[in-house]
Amino acid sequence: MPEILSLRQLRVAFPRAEGAAVNVVRGADLETNPGQTLGLVGESGSGKSMTALAIMGLTPFSAQVSGSARYHGRELVGLREPEYEKIRGAGISIVFQDPSTSLNPVLTIEQQLLETIQTHREISQKDARNLAIESLRSMDIPSPEKRINDYAHQLSGGMKQRILISMALACEPDCLILDEPTTALDVTVQAQILDLVERIQSFNQVSVILISHDLGIVSEISDKVAVMYAGRIVEQGPTADILNVSRHPYTRGLLSSIPELGAPKKTLATIPGFPLNPAELPSGCPFHPRCSRVQAICRQQDPDIRHEQDQAFACWNPEPQHG
Ligand SMILES: Nc1ncnc2c1ncn2[C@@H]1O[C@H](COP(=O)(O)OP(=O)(O)OP(=O)(O)O)[C@@H](O)[C@H]1O
Ligand SMILES: [Mg+2]
Repeated sequence: MPEILSLRQLRVAFPRAEGAAVNVVRGADLETNPGQTLGLVGESGSGKSMTALAIMGLTPFSAQVSGSARYHGRELVGLREPEYEKIRGAGISIVFQDPSTSLNPVLTIEQQLLETIQTHREISQKDARNLAIESLRSMDIPSPEKRINDYAHQLSGGMKQRILISMALACEPDCLILDEPTTALDVTVQAQILDLVERIQSFNQVSVILISHDLGIVSEISDKVAVMYAGRIVEQGPTADILNVSRHPYTRGLLSSIPELGAPKKTLATIPGFPLNPAELPSGCPFHPRCSRVQAICRQQDPDIRHEQDQAFACWNPEPQHG
């Protein structure tokens, strides 16, 4: 299957006045395919959003992006801004992490949707308005012809998220990045948004990157899962394999901290230690101070990625395949 996005050794670093640069994304390899969802999980600060921003060419000014991110084979790293502007929205779109700050409080939803649509398409105001209403309707927004006149403060969190997703889809991109789309929402609304994402992915053949710190949520609708730790993708593979035969001890830790519905009550496992500061990574494998399977080599050398069947993982002493 031809890939839509392909990352190879994508890196994001922040140079410092003194000392070495801080590497917040340390060589990410990923591929996304049409009509598939890739879940990107990891704890706070692991580099998920920065990976997304690097794809979009929207990292902070001081960041240095290197390696490769190709969109339909075209290199994005180093792409000039006017070229990037043609791809953003119409090719790759993003819904940013914080929906409350993503909508402009002084403009109506209509004004914001029309601006997005008319930036990329030469169509009349009337056609753009009809298109905007239709796109809200397809996001299950009731009475879209009325809601389109609302301001952000008149909308619930779930409604805002639907509107942001419809804005992101307004110019029919084939790659959609959703950064923590359900985090601020209650459980019922979370489920509705996930339903919506599944529909978008299958009807429009869009390739979705779903970013979340919650492996439980990601695994519900993702075809593939990539697990990030300290700026690196430490394991990835088909969702079923990640859930059933994950090899990296960090992935196993994430799995055992997901509550199971209907299972007898038990204390959920936690991963000992704290999320890392990328400016102070330990030697060797950065997960080693928290790892139950640590060996001498883990303290000395960061492992390369190993490929076994459809899975890829970076671990010196992986969990056994069965058991
Ligand atoms: N402008 C910046 N300058 C320096 N470091 C930054 C900057 N912005 C973010 N970082 C660092 O980059 C690292 C990765 O951040 P990122 O936002 O990608 O994490 P994340 O995985 O999305 O976390 P979360 O789940 O909290 O959203 C963090 O350690 C963060 O402190
Ligand atoms: Mg983030």
